[in-house]
Amino acid sequence: MPTSSLAGSTVLVTGAGHGIGRAVSERFATEGARVGVNDIDAARAGETVAAIEAAGGTAMALIGDVGSEEDVARITSTLVTAYGPIDVLVNNAALATYEAVCRHFLEGDLDWWNRILTNNLTSVFLCSHAVAGAMARRRRGAIIHLSSGGATHAHRAMASYDAAKGGIEALTRAMALDLAPYGVRVNCVVPGLIRTYDISDELAAERGQVVPLGRLGNADDLAGPIVFLATDDARYMTGATVVVDGGVLVQQRSAPVDVYPVSKFPVVPEADS
Ligand SMILES: NC(=O)c1ccc[n+]([C@@H]2O[C@H](COP(=O)([O-])OP(=O)(O)OC[C@H]3O[C@@H](n4cnc5c(N)ncnc54)[C@H](O)[C@@H]3O)[C@@H](O)[C@H]2O)c1
Repeated sequence: MPTSSLAGSTVLVTGAGHGIGRAVSERFATEGARVGVNDIDAARAGETVAAIEAAGGTAMALIGDVGSEEDVARITSTLVTAYGPIDVLVNNAALATYEAVCRHFLEGDLDWWNRILTNNLTSVFLCSHAVAGAMARRRRGAIIHLSSGGATHAHRAMASYDAAKGGIEALTRAMALDLAPYGVRVNCVVPGLIRTYDISDELAAERGQVVPLGRLGNADDLAGPIVFLATDDARYMTGATVVVDGGVLVQQRSAPVDVYPVSKFPVVPEADS
């Protein structure tokens, strides 16, 4: 039996057909929430809903583009009609794959810039704006944005993506201030290197060497922190940027190039219990 403050609540997760959005949606459903599973890809959204229902949870697919004001209005009103007022919004959808976002700055153009900014930043404004008024009237609500390490530490060839994520972190703070008097909390989560697409175990192990905790993250590693921010246990948190990256952003040099590599660390035998 779910005992958390989320039981019976209505949650909207954008981009919930794959990766982090899917893992977070499944976790909200486990906590007893009724989940609106948005994705622009109908097949993906259907898979997430099927997984939730197979586990005994409640979810509905909401197909649409969160970069479109018209789609966002339809998605949110459909969810409210079906499950009641929205208590939690997770702004997770983004174009985030190498093919979609990577372009050297010198080779970028306005189409590329506008596509990424619309999908990854304007979408966050549109979804938040569509739900915030009702949350303010009810004096309750939690909004969680997905940022990236790129908001503060640049990726090569990802200027538009990093600019959108920097905008999301600024928007988190601005929305938190404007909405706090109405009891609506706004926070953001910064994932690290999360394995949301199939890559070989060898490549994953190689990439994992740059992570202080020693491995790439899984989508499930994000589910707990994101769901926590939506619960009453996080009632005094707003405007926060919560980093969930295995320690990537706090290091000066990654392990493979450090002058004091992990191989020189003291040997500490593992305890039995
Ligand atoms: N995976 C990582 O390593 C990582 C790292 C840092 C930040 N993030 C952020 O976390 C979030 C999720 O990343 P992921 O790796 O799980 O992504 P993903 O590509 O696995 O899934 C994103 C989903 O969003 C959907 N989507 C994209 N644009 C949409 C739109 N306009 N409307 C509706 N749905 C749309 C896609 O169809 C897809 O199913 C993103 O905001 C991403 O920027 C991911």
